[in-house]
Amino acid sequence: MIELKERVFSGVQPTGDLTLGNYLGAITRFVEMQKSHECIYCVVDMHAITQWQDPAELSRAIRLVTAAFIASGIDPAAHIVFNQSQVAEHAELAWVFNCVARLGWLNRMTQFKEKAGKNRENASVGLYAYPSLMAADILVYRATHVPVGEDQKQHLELTRDIAQKFNNDFAPRLKELGYPDGFFPLAEPLITGPATRVMSLRDGTKKMSKSDPSDLSRINLTDDSDTIAKKIRKAKTDPEPLPSEIEGLKERPEADNLVGIFAALKGEPVADTLKTYGGAQFSGFKQDLADLTVEALQPVSSEMARLMADPGHIDEILRDGAARARVLAAPIMDEVKKIVGFVR
Ligand code: TYM
Repeated sequence: MIELKERVFSGVQPTGDLTLGNYLGAITRFVEMQKSHECIYCVVDMHAITQWQDPAELSRAIRLVTAAFIASGIDPAAHIVFNQSQVAEHAELAWVFNCVARLGWLNRMTQFKEKAGKNRENASVGLYAYPSLMAADILVYRATHVPVGEDQKQHLELTRDIAQKFNNDFAPRLKELGYPDGFFPLAEPLITGPATRVMSLRDGTKKMSKSDPSDLSRINLTDDSDTIAKKIRKAKTDPEPLPSEIEGLKERPEADNLVGIFAALKGEPVADTLKTYGGAQFSGFKQDLADLTVEALQPVSSEMARLMADPGHIDEILRDGAARARVLAAPIMDEVKKIVGFVR
């Protein structure tokens, strides 16, 4: 019997550069969780290839996400940082979960619909099965807490459904093996903080995303100070001055987004930001927001550049993390094989 303990797991795809959305919605939260929990942070390269990736660019992006983790304050010695493809148990458990998850469940996934677009027949099978690999990422460590941005909520609900169905399907067997309360925990999504959904700078109703065709829509972690200032200056707004109360942000998605980013970077409640800027024009606010963003991201991006200059060192960190992740995942996967009835 393997005892269940509190554990944090989360992942980031190495597809292109990281955005301020990834940073505020996920990575800063990862850093915080280290204080209270054992944490496992994964560069999910197998998820990345559900859509075509140039091999050289993929390798660079894996190192870049790793560098971003470390530059932001994740400690790869005290916790675990690795890339998914190096721990085979993720793929093994994903197969079992492909046989647990129902077609109807996957058909409801909005991210598949968005990513596959109009030409669904041409999407990879991997893109369709993406959520069961994600459930395997989390549950191969029997992780209990998963910090993510708002857009991952549906995938985490599916992860809980898969865990629940596995526990139900194998209930008698699990009792025999000493797991009367089920084998997999129902992992809890942690979608908290002021920036769970950072929006595009060009359209406050769309998520800020690495895949948006317009680079002006997002701030990349590797953008230099001038680029950041320019993007914020050009960010879409409305003609009204900033409101003094949260109520006043309703129906003003662009204002809401910029104020939310400011509050998140400053580490203050939105109400405090509005107290300072209520009644002000956007031009002055944008100048302060640009300064604040540069101040927050500059140390991260320069540390990322320093780390990227020594890819061998990053690879070593990933290898060490994978070795330690395997030590956790292997016995859990062995137990799953026993539960399912595989003979060895
Ligand atoms: P990915 O790579 O798209 O994004 C990584 C993390 O960043 C968050 N995020 C945002 N948060 C706020 N505002 C935004 N505009 C924004 N854009 C992205 C995401 O919510 C995410 O937390 N499927 C996942 C990766 C994954 C995973 C996992 C996550 C694979 N396995 C297991 C948790 C647990 C994804 O594509 O994230």
